[in-house]
Amino acid sequence: MEYIKGGAKMYFGADYYPEHWPVEFWEDHAKLMKEANINVVRIAEFAWAKMEFKEGVFDFLWLDEAIEVLKVKGIKVVLGTPTATPPKWIMDKNPDIYMENEFGQIRGFGSRRHYCYNNPAFKEHTSRIVKGMAEHYKNNPSVILWQIDNEFGCHDTVRCYCDHCLDAFRKWLEKKYTSIDQLNSEWGTIFWSQTYGDWNEVILPKYTTCDSNVSASGEITSKTFTHNPGLLLDFYRFSSDSVVSYQLLQIEVLKDTGCSQPISNNLMGHFDQLNYFDLGKDLDFIVWDNYINTQWGQSDYRSISMAHDLMHGIKEKNFWVMEQQSGPCGWNYLGDTPKPGQIRLWTYQAIAHGAEGMVYFRWRACPFGTEQYWYGILDHDGIPRRRYREIQQIGNEISKLSDLIVGSQKITETAIIKSYDNLWSHEFQPHNAAFNYNKLLSQYYFALASNHINADVVSIETEFSKYKLVFMPAFNLMTGDILKKVEKYVADGGNLVTTFRSGTKNWNNSMTLKTLPGYFKEISGIEVEEFDSLNHGRTVEVKGIIGEGRASLWCDILKPLYAQILATYSEEYYEGEAAITVNSYGKGKVFYVGCDLDADAMNSLIQYIAQTSQVKPLLQIPQEGIEIVRKLKDGKEYMIVLNHTNKIQKVQLERNFTEVLSDKMIHGMCTIEGYGVAVLI
Ligand code: GLA
Ligand code: ZN
Repeated sequence: MEYIKGGAKMYFGADYYPEHWPVEFWEDHAKLMKEANINVVRIAEFAWAKMEFKEGVFDFLWLDEAIEVLKVKGIKVVLGTPTATPPKWIMDKNPDIYMENEFGQIRGFGSRRHYCYNNPAFKEHTSRIVKGMAEHYKNNPSVILWQIDNEFGCHDTVRCYCDHCLDAFRKWLEKKYTSIDQLNSEWGTIFWSQTYGDWNEVILPKYTTCDSNVSASGEITSKTFTHNPGLLLDFYRFSSDSVVSYQLLQIEVLKDTGCSQPISNNLMGHFDQLNYFDLGKDLDFIVWDNYINTQWGQSDYRSISMAHDLMHGIKEKNFWVMEQQSGPCGWNYLGDTPKPGQIRLWTYQAIAHGAEGMVYFRWRACPFGTEQYWYGILDHDGIPRRRYREIQQIGNEISKLSDLIVGSQKITETAIIKSYDNLWSHEFQPHNAAFNYNKLLSQYYFALASNHINADVVSIETEFSKYKLVFMPAFNLMTGDILKKVEKYVADGGNLVTTFRSGTKNWNNSMTLKTLPGYFKEISGIEVEEFDSLNHGRTVEVKGIIGEGRASLWCDILKPLYAQILATYSEEYYEGEAAITVNSYGKGKVFYVGCDLDADAMNSLIQYIAQTSQVKPLLQIPQEGIEIVRKLKDGKEYMIVLNHTNKIQKVQLERNFTEVLSDKMIHGMCTIEGYGVAVLI
């Protein structure tokens, strides 16, 4: 295999909890790990009670021993700080650490993440345990990475409504607005006489009179969505910032104590109360947790790819998967068992999108606790079976492929912009009851993926000029600076796609007084004359370059100023009016999509836009369930082809390739087994 140079090492491992097992088991575990090519484990992220049984009294002896047993087998360690599970003695000492929900209820002991990020006592407890661990492990060569806490934001734990948060929120606002008059003016508190005379009067958006969704049994079911939109959006931003600051506190303790290992924190594809672009700034690289098929649902392969691309997009850098599903799992009941080949397929899917570390959750199913049904590589009895053998095979393959994977790049010409500010604004005012910002982004991503066009998922801060085509769906909150960036991109030859519900608000969530689509009006060369929110099952036919499709959420009725019409409505009182347009602006183009579309129409739209923007699909004829990712390493291009179906598929390639895993020549046509993978160079 002369195309693989050798040298770079990919970390491959498991999430391991030595504290769940008798010490006598540890050596057997390490031996089996080594035989599966495992070279790293993540440990200790929930072991606070064992590491600090009493305030200031640390016990790292057991952990040292576990690390030593692993070391003998050449296995390194990712060390987690255990702050997701503050022990009972801490909670009894400072009960105000518990989070409070919007109804004033305390979210008490018994599971995990039971703390408020703004609690001063908790910050002290945090600094003490993190410093204790840092002092003990900073010079331990087995420790290659720190994981801070565990999954910030999991279990709806970003937004807390306690008095400490109230204080911190007021300070945050004072810093942002400087004067209370400015806050009043930005939020428009004149409405319903909500004017604040002083910072101390400002509230948290707790349950209020108009939030009156009460179920028949008297249970309060609503979220607090009737508050001032400026207040709500700022509270959501503040809550996310609170997590970012709390993370920074731990990073600073680790660094101040002299740790030189890289630092990360395990994210999740869908924890949307947290601005991951902000959270990622302080981390050395991103790691995330990828579950495909659990008690809580089953993900389409394209949504997993999109989550990988978001994780890549946070720092525009390769990442690790710190928890990759490796067994049937659930807390109360079980999702489907991964079928033979699927763990391998999910692994290569991650690698294709930029993973260069792969850690499976969990090494062995635990006999007790909330997660006793959560299976991993080994079952409760610890006997290696099919899933272990599959991991062993992947480990073998990866040890050979490491150099091709580590430091490789995904080649893309297309980006989708994700904005958490916009997401949060849409969250409590979705315009139409069925509208969902993330879903709209996914519809664009899915249509691109189904047409074999790779896309990045990135923040508005990304360098647009890298891309031929940029999507900014429902980019509703706008600023003059963003407009300038977008104008320059298009004027220089870029292609921009924007949609209905873009540009109707300013950045602090007040409506714009500009004619819609606000800041987007000139570059898209249209005015939104009227709109129609489609309710009660109504749909409207749209015809044009998409063929015939249907909108079922929203129709902007467009008046072209300079734009060309690509599709019109063929029903309703706005029959014949423009629905989709394109405008030439400088050397580039702006597409405005005034309505949502069904999947087929969306596919046709993407084909048209891609062709007009000279973005070439990786397969000429779309092939269901086949995913192809173009990669680059050391100036050499290669492709990873994934078959997400259970049937054998033949993929027609444009030239001959070598398939690296089998070391066979492929003459044009590549045959891939159900759930199979090909690495083509
Ligand atoms: C998350 C957590 C893990 C574990 C798994 C399974 O991803 O990070 O600690 O709880 O889910 O539920
Ligand atoms: Zn709080």
